[in-house]
Amino acid sequence: MENLYKIPKHVAIIMDGNGRWAKRRGLPRIFGHRKGAEAVEKAIDFAHKVGIEWLTVFAFSTENWERPKEEVNAIMSLLVEYINKKIPELLERNIRLRFLGRTQELSEKIQSTIKKGEEITKNCTGMNLVVALNYSGRAEIIDAVRKIISQDVKRIDENTFPEYLYIPEMPDPDLLIRTSGEKRISNFLLWELAYTELYFTEVLWPDFDEEEFKNALLDYQSRERRFGKILEG
Ligand code: IPE
Ligand code: IPE
Ligand code: MG
Repeated sequence: MENLYKIPKHVAIIMDGNGRWAKRRGLPRIFGHRKGAEAVEKAIDFAHKVGIEWLTVFAFSTENWERPKEEVNAIMSLLVEYINKKIPELLERNIRLRFLGRTQELSEKIQSTIKKGEEITKNCTGMNLVVALNYSGRAEIIDAVRKIISQDVKRIDENTFPEYLYIPEMPDPDLLIRTSGEKRISNFLLWELAYTELYFTEVLWPDFDEEEFKNALLDYQSRERRFGKILEG
């Protein structure tokens, strides 16, 4: 990237449009999810290459359970297959894999895959790859509140509250990308997105490639982040 000094530290992505990608080709939705998994690999490669420190991808929301059972099962098997396939590669490239969400509600098989991926890559320092799985922004806030109550914490403010979120050391995203033309947050990272720059593209997730990612970063680099202040000059 030409503007290396303005590479966002944390990029979060709502990977949307897999179903429509498949539908346009007359294929079952799961084909879109398969193709979407390939797009995730490209996004990881690019983020790693340009020096993004945290990449968070929304893989499955708590609301996605409302979809037909066949689609949910297919997504879950795809996730297990994909995580298992990626673990050695992530380790080799020094990428730490982490999960965000109510993972304790997932099947034993998925939980053991998740634990394996987190355990094997836990000392990796090159980049953090965070997979939001069975994730809901409101649930994350509620889970934080429950933790605060159970630990009998007496004082809490905006600076200490994030210590009770799923990954306390995760910085707020600098840039959020959502594909497929939808302009909404869909219950993603509600606390963390307070001052994030938002980027929406019409491209469907399976078609999101290095060029598209680059466009998002170039757009980000042209933004002026003020955080409520008035900038000098
Ligand atoms: C995103 O693609 C992947 C998940 C939500 C699991 P969709 O499956 O939502 O695709 P569209 O939005 O129906 O096209
Ligand atoms: C958001 O996409 C969740 C994921 C990308 C995993 P959805 O397709 O579920 O969101 P809505 O239903 O369009 O808001
Ligand atoms: Mg969708």
